[in-house]
Amino acid sequence: MPVIDIHNHFFPSSWPDLAARYGTPNWPWIKHTEPGQADIMVGDRFFRHISSACWDPEVRLREMDRDGIDVQVMSATPVLFAYERPVEHALDCARLFNDAALELCSRGKGRLKTLCQVPLQDIDAACKELSRCMRAGHLGVQIGNHIGARNLDDPGMVTFLQHCADEGAAVLVHPWEMLGQDRMPKYMMPWTVGMPAETQLSVVAMILSGAFDRLPSSLRICFAHGGGSFAFLLGRLENAWHHHPVARGECEHPPSYYLNRFYVDSAVFDQRSLQFLVGTMGADRVMLGSDYPFPLGEERVGSLIRQSNSPQDAKTKLLGGNAVGFLGLKDEAREAANEKPGAAAGLSPRAPEPGQLTYSSYLKVPELLELQRPQSVPQHHDELLFILVHQTYELWFKELLHDLDAVVANLQKAGAKPQSHDEVYEAARLLRRCTEITRVLVEQFTILETMLPTHFLAFRGLLEPASGFQSEQFREIEFLCGLKDEKMLRYHRPTAEAYASLKRRLEEPSLRDVFFGALEAMGKLPPAAEGATERERFEARARAVHELYKDEHHHRDWIDVCERLTEFDELVVSWRLRHIQLVERIIGIRMGTGGSTGASYLKLTLDKKFFPELWEARTLLTE
Ligand code: HEM
Repeated sequence: MPVIDIHNHFFPSSWPDLAARYGTPNWPWIKHTEPGQADIMVGDRFFRHISSACWDPEVRLREMDRDGIDVQVMSATPVLFAYERPVEHALDCARLFNDAALELCSRGKGRLKTLCQVPLQDIDAACKELSRCMRAGHLGVQIGNHIGARNLDDPGMVTFLQHCADEGAAVLVHPWEMLGQDRMPKYMMPWTVGMPAETQLSVVAMILSGAFDRLPSSLRICFAHGGGSFAFLLGRLENAWHHHPVARGECEHPPSYYLNRFYVDSAVFDQRSLQFLVGTMGADRVMLGSDYPFPLGEERVGSLIRQSNSPQDAKTKLLGGNAVGFLGLKDEAREAANEKPGAAAGLSPRAPEPGQLTYSSYLKVPELLELQRPQSVPQHHDELLFILVHQTYELWFKELLHDLDAVVANLQKAGAKPQSHDEVYEAARLLRRCTEITRVLVEQFTILETMLPTHFLAFRGLLEPASGFQSEQFREIEFLCGLKDEKMLRYHRPTAEAYASLKRRLEEPSLRDVFFGALEAMGKLPPAAEGATERERFEARARAVHELYKDEHHHRDWIDVCERLTEFDELVVSWRLRHIQLVERIIGIRMGTGGSTGASYLKLTLDKKFFPELWEARTLLTE
C-alpha cells in the first residue's frame, strides 16, 4: 500500500507580478533571498520564510525518500486563495497556480499529485475551474473553510460541494483568515488557536445545518489539522444536541452519526492526540497529512503514525490505505482502463472490478518498484543498478531456498521408501531448476561490471558497514547444502529474525546429510562404525557414490541426482569466482565494507564444496 501524504503545500518559484497584472495592491509575491531560500511577501509585508522544498521537485522527492513517503498530494498555500478579490482576478490567479502545480507534478516522477484551488467567492466560476482542473489531472480541490461570514453550510458552498461529489473530486478543507485575530496579535496564536477553532466551526456547521444529510455520501471531504478542535469537543456538541433543542440545528441525527461522512488528517503532532483522534473518528477516517514543508509541519513526515501504538493494519490505513479511497485512485485507475482507445470495440481488456486481481495487484508491482531507496544525494546514476542487481540476486536466492527445501523433502521421502523412484526423479527435476538459476546468477555480474570503479567509489562510502557478509539467504543456502560455519552467525546478530533462521538451518539436517541418509536407507552406505573418524566416514560416503556410478543400469535416477548436485556445486564455485573477479575489477584489493581483506579473503572460499564426496567418487572410478 503506498504511503500518501494528503496535506502539504507548494509555492512556485516565480509567477507574474499580480499587482501589476490586475492593477490592485497587496498580492502575494516571492522574494528570493539566497540560493534555495525565499520569503513570501504580501505587498510590502513579510508573510513567511520558505525554502526550495516548496518549488523544487528534486528536493521534495529526496525528502520523500528520506521519510518513506511514496506520494505527496500538494495544495496551494491559502495566502494565494484571493477569495476577497474580484472573481476575474481570483479565477486568473487560480488558473496560474493550478497550471503551475501540474507543471511541478510533471517533474515529480509520478509521485507528486495535486489539488486545485478555485475562486470560491463565485460558485459558477469555482465549479467551472474545478471541472477544468479535474480533466487536466488534479485529484480534487483545496478550499478555504469560509468566505467572509459564509461558512461551509452556505447554500452556494453546498452547491459547490455537490459539484465536487459529481466530479469525483476530493475536497481538502483548510482553515484560513482566522476568527478573532484582533485578540491574537502575538505568539502565532492565529495558527495554534484560531486554525483549530476555524476547522471545528466548519465541521459543526456542516453537521448541524444538515448539509451532510443533503449532500451525497459519495462526497469525499477531509478537514485539515486533525479536524481542529472538533474531535476533542465532540462530547460537548453531542451533549448540547441531546439536551438543548436550540443546539440541534437541522440535522436528522446526533453529531456523532456523521463521523463516517468526512476524513481528518493526522497533523496533530502528539501521540496521545493521534490516539484520541483515531479512537474518535475510527482508523478508516484519519489520513497522513503533514503540512510539509512549512515550519509548523511534521519534521519527519509519517513518523507520528509509524511510531504510534496503533496495530499494523490501522497504520497501513492511516499511512495510505484511506487516502487511496479519499483520492479516488482506484476509480481513477478503473476509468483509465475503460477510456482506453478501442475499449468500445472490445479490443481493450475488461476493467477489473474493485478488489479483483490485476497484473499489478497480484505481483505487487507498485510496491516492488518502490523498494529501491538510494543513499546518494543527489542520486548517483549507477546506485539504482547496484541496488536492483543485489535485489535480483536476493529474489533468486529465495527461489533457490524454496526449491532446495523441496529437494530435501523429496530425498527424505525417497529414503523412507527406497523402492519408489518418483521422489528421486522429482528431486533431480528441482535440482535442474537450481542449476539453471545459478547459471543466470553467474552471468548477472556482467551487468554490474558496466559500472565504472570510479562511479562505485562515488557512493561506496555511504554503504558502510553493510556488506555481502550480511546476506542471510546466501548463508542459508550454504548451511542448507551442508557448509555449516557457526562463526558466520556473528554477522547476523543485529537482526534477531535472520539470526534465528540461520541457527535453525545450522541445527537441521542438511541436503548433504539427507542425501547420504537416503543412501544408507537403501543399503548403499553401511552405517558408520562406532568411533569411526571423520575421514573414514567421508571415504565410506565417497565409496557409496562410487557404487552407484558402477551400477548405472539400476541407479540411473540416483546418478542423475548426483550429477545435478555436482553441477550445482560447480556453478556455486563459478559464482564465487565471478564475484571475486567483479570485486577485483571494481575495488581492486581494497578491504571489504564487512571488514574482511576483500578479494584475498574471498579467494579462500573457492575451495569450499557442498558435496565433496561426489567429487571424491570421481577419483575412485577406474576405466
Ligand atoms: C560492486 C560490487 C561488489 C563488491 C565491490 C563486493 C564486494 C564484496 C566483498 C569485499 C566481500 C567480502 C566481505 C566484506 O568484507 O564485505 C563480499 C562478500 C559477499 N558479497 Fe559482494 N560485492 C559486490 C557485489 C555483490 C553482489 C551483486 C552480490 C549478490 C548477492 C554479492 C554478494 C556477496 C556475498 C553473498 C558475500 C559473502 C560471501 C562469502 O562470505 O563467501 N556481492 N562482497
